Amino acid sequence: MNGLIHTLLSDYASVRGVDLPEDAMFEQHPDASTIARVARIAELVGSSEVEVLRDFGSRFPELVRGRGYGSVLAAMGPSYTAFLGQLDAMHAGLSVSFPGVQMPSFSLESADEARCTLLYRSIRGSLTPLAVGILEGSARLFELTVDVVVERRRLDGAVPIVIVRGSAGGRWR
Ligand code: HEM
Repeated sequence: MNGLIHTLLSDYASVRGVDLPEDAMFEQHPDASTIARVARIAELVGSSEVEVLRDFGSRFPELVRGRGYGSVLAAMGPSYTAFLGQLDAMHAGLSVSFPGVQMPSFSLESADEARCTLLYRSIRGSLTPLAVGILEGSARLFELTVDVVVERRRLDGAVPIVIVRGSAGGRWR
């Protein structure tokens, strides 16, 4: 995984009060070393890897902002569902500056006033909790709370993620 994610994991570790060595920022690192970083943080803070991935994800918007990517988030549309519809275009745009990345894909399958379904595809099998955390954290950018439910992986490999709006208000559509 790209060194930006490793750097953000180090930033996350400091927020949690533990130290993780920095890693080369824009290089690709083997996914196993990313998972090893997550495992190390989990060990240091005394929680599970899944919990760390999700909590890291929910703080992801602040963390990427801290590394200069706030404008990328701000450019993704006026509402949460518009933002969700832009995830692929956003990652595709970033790919230009991150040679060798293998970005995930998110497509908005359906959306109404109360819920939406996002289809997540990744070459990595274990990062769904990260996606869930980022989706929870991003909802706060639109003054929303959401409940996120992961459904069983479909035969075509897509993982449906159902996002339920927590309450009225905020910028949902
Ligand atoms: C400014 C904002 C963002 C930046 C700079 C960014 C950048 C990146 C980069 C560089 C990777 C690593 C890919 C690789 O090394 O092959 C990545 C992976 C990922 N991104 Fe983003 N991203 C952003 C926002 C988001 C948002 C809003 C989501 C929402 C769900 C998201 C979900 C993910 C996930 C789940 C991965 C893990 C890789 C996988 O699932 O296969 N990202 N992103």
